[in-house]
Amino acid sequence: METKSTNYKQTINFTPELITRLNELLTHYPADKKKSALLPVLHEVQDAHDNWLSVELQEKVAEFLELKPIEVFEVVTFYTMYNQKPVGKYMFEFCSTSCCMLRGSDDLIDYTCVKLGIQPGQTTPDGMFSVAAVQCLGACGYAPMMQIGDYYHEHLTPQKIDQIIEDCKAGKIIIHDK
Ligand code: FES
Repeated sequence: METKSTNYKQTINFTPELITRLNELLTHYPADKKKSALLPVLHEVQDAHDNWLSVELQEKVAEFLELKPIEVFEVVTFYTMYNQKPVGKYMFEFCSTSCCMLRGSDDLIDYTCVKLGIQPGQTTPDGMFSVAAVQCLGACGYAPMMQIGDYYHEHLTPQKIDQIIEDCKAGKIIIHDK
């Protein structure tokens, strides 16, 4: 399997603060079961690296958790919440599963992409916005919805999308809860 396919360069920065956070996470799991911490560790590492995980960074995570690199690669490539290439500061992850689809997610994705001048999976040239279609985010009762960072935006309409984009440009949209 080809794993080193990335053309994107990433500066790996395991700061003392990040390592402290990762070590704290490890205390939640048995000492001989470090792999159990893989998902939260990947979240922390991704948050600390502009929201994406290069192959080299995944290898660093494997080294930290004393895993084989393939054990990290197979997780990162399975879950859409881990990004394998640079993404925009504001990543619009639209749920495109049944409830949201029936409530118009396809049209909203099209609307957003046209407005931003990109296709799903792409990032605007200024690095501000990315758009992705993802699977059910567990907020089906609030369809159609999307996730930006740690926050959900629900009951979406074109007008709400317009406002969210303006709020992003004005720095009013919170991405992370920490
Ligand atoms: S179907 Fe969209 S959140 Fe579940």
